[in-house]
Amino acid sequence: MAASGAVLAECHDALAAEVGVGVTTAHLDAVAEELIRARGGIPAFKGYPGPTPYPASICASVNDAVVHGIPDGYALRDGDVLALDVGVILDGWVSDAARTHGIGTVSPIASRLIDVTRVSLERGIAACLVGNHVGDIGHAVQTEVEAAGFSVVESLVGHGVGRSMHEEPQVPNFGRPGTGVELTEGLVIAIEPMVNAGRHEVILADDGWTIATRDGTLSAHWEHTVAVTADGPRILTLS
Ligand code: MF3
Ligand code: CO
Repeated sequence: MAASGAVLAECHDALAAEVGVGVTTAHLDAVAEELIRARGGIPAFKGYPGPTPYPASICASVNDAVVHGIPDGYALRDGDVLALDVGVILDGWVSDAARTHGIGTVSPIASRLIDVTRVSLERGIAACLVGNHVGDIGHAVQTEVEAAGFSVVESLVGHGVGRSMHEEPQVPNFGRPGTGVELTEGLVIAIEPMVNAGRHEVILADDGWTIATRDGTLSAHWEHTVAVTADGPRILTLS
């Protein structure tokens, strides 16, 4: 899984170097797919079952889109908030990670939203200790987000990951300390705070995939695949 995560981290680095004003999300999708396949991997999202099989290798969710935005001919504009989510299968092992980029010069609120969401992921990861519970992760994420005046999306959650992309347990981005499934040595989970600048409610777009904020406010998404080890959390999708 670490090998899979290393390919995914490299892919995210390549995407980070590629994003910018005028770049299309379809181009980013092509860059990601090419890199993953060149490393002997398979894009985990492509063909993933849903209302229709997922048609791309990455999710590119712009501004009020929270997650599962489908790459297309949209050319990024100055000030956009772009969440990129990618999954890799290498030798049968899945890794899953997301980063959010500000395009060009973003508003102060957008910049703070991106930072707070990234820090909330770090807080959640820090709670990935043997003997802790999934509620400790959610509580850590939620505390960080709500202190900033933002809201956690509750209808979408992180998840166990391994031979399949979505395994037990579910990992909500909210919760009470000491509640939920206990974290045991060797468990690998994808922690993925989805944070809205406004209210937490989301809607499903007409394409059947894109999830967007109901109130039209900006949203950000960060995700890592993390192993629970006796030595503490080991992030498998770190550059
Ligand atoms: N990281 C997302 C998730 O855990 C990506 C899934 S996109 C899909 O649900 F197309 F593969 F469904
Ligand atoms: Co995920």
